Amino acid sequence: MESHGNVKKNLFNQSCCTILPYAHGVKATHVRRASKRDAVDAADEPEPPRRGNKVLATKTASARTASGEAWSKAGQLKLEALQSRLAQRVATLAGKTTVQTKQATKTALSTGKVGFSKAAQISRDTVLPEISRTGSWLWQRIRRERLKQDYRDFLVWLHESVLDVGAESLFFAPTKGYLPLDSLTIESGNRAFGHDYRPSPRFVFEWAISAIPEDLGKFSFVDYGAGKGRVMLLASQHEFKTIGGMEFAAELHDAATMNIQQFPRSRMTCRNVECTLADAAYVGLPEDETIYYFYNPFSREVLAAVLEIITASYHERPRRLYVVLVDSSDGDLVMQTGIFGRLKMSWFDRLRARLLSPYPIAIYRSLA
Ligand SMILES: C[S@@+](CC[C@H](N)C(=O)[O-])C[C@H]1O[C@@H](n2cnc3c(N)ncnc32)[C@H](O)[C@@H]1O
Repeated sequence: MESHGNVKKNLFNQSCCTILPYAHGVKATHVRRASKRDAVDAADEPEPPRRGNKVLATKTASARTASGEAWSKAGQLKLEALQSRLAQRVATLAGKTTVQTKQATKTALSTGKVGFSKAAQISRDTVLPEISRTGSWLWQRIRRERLKQDYRDFLVWLHESVLDVGAESLFFAPTKGYLPLDSLTIESGNRAFGHDYRPSPRFVFEWAISAIPEDLGKFSFVDYGAGKGRVMLLASQHEFKTIGGMEFAAELHDAATMNIQQFPRSRMTCRNVECTLADAAYVGLPEDETIYYFYNPFSREVLAAVLEIITASYHERPRRLYVVLVDSSDGDLVMQTGIFGRLKMSWFDRLRARLLSPYPIAIYRSLA
């Protein structure tokens, strides 16, 4: 004897007939061409009894109608549930993009079936383009930032490994490279506000100085956070009156002192060069016309304190002063002193700095 399972399998294999599920408590049989789907459904249902009389045929017909209605109702309910879930999602998405879209989607949803199609329409017309616009804007931005960063890294490498090599060979203690402050001896409360040691690229310093439209022989030069003295010794090759620097890390100050002592005198136009071991926020200033150089040595708090000293000194004796900021975004503090205006560099200086300096250069001149 064949089992039920075998019968079903045979029915499916022969594409002959299938059995519909129960509806309203009546077991219905219906013979038609079987599809794959029907065969799968049939496999899950118990086998109805097989009878061949007319009464059963009538009952079967009515059961078939009832069953069909039940299926279509269930299908309808499922579809509505699905529509509602989808519409809900669209509404959430719309809310995230624009308030108007959210409002429109809500309105669409409240009108039932039409609401879904409206919401879908809104998602197609506004939400998706909005998402794609935001996505491509983000992508462009990331790409631009990455390109900028890559170009800057290249310039840093170019200066360190190529353009600085000649100047570097003149120093007794090498000035190149990077040193974190936590590896150094610093006796100052401002240690936490100090930035790690790294030397100015030679040409960045030269470009900044050459943008000052003055006879440098009238000026003194001060390097805030002098490090190992590279900038002071580059400055010594210009005609300054005096050159000073302050450095609060003992090891760096020692290296700067040694470099000043050992630097070839034939190269020095100004030999009045001195580095002081001190916190820049507590050092008095020369009374003459001065160029103050900052290669981003410390954070805003200390810069503000230093600018107060400069401002007080200026008010005591108003005179021509310059502040040079390299790789700094604190120019607003300089402007806030009320005694400086930003110097407009020539188009050539700006272009050169823009194309070849890894760091921005900003120059401020006192109003006197
Ligand atoms: C980025 S390096 C610049 C070195 C040098 N000026 C140059 O351009 O080659 C910053 C230096 O500032 C020093 N520094 C940071 N805060 C300081 C402070 N409050 N007083 C003195 N020096 C400070 C650090 O020790 C470090 O050597």
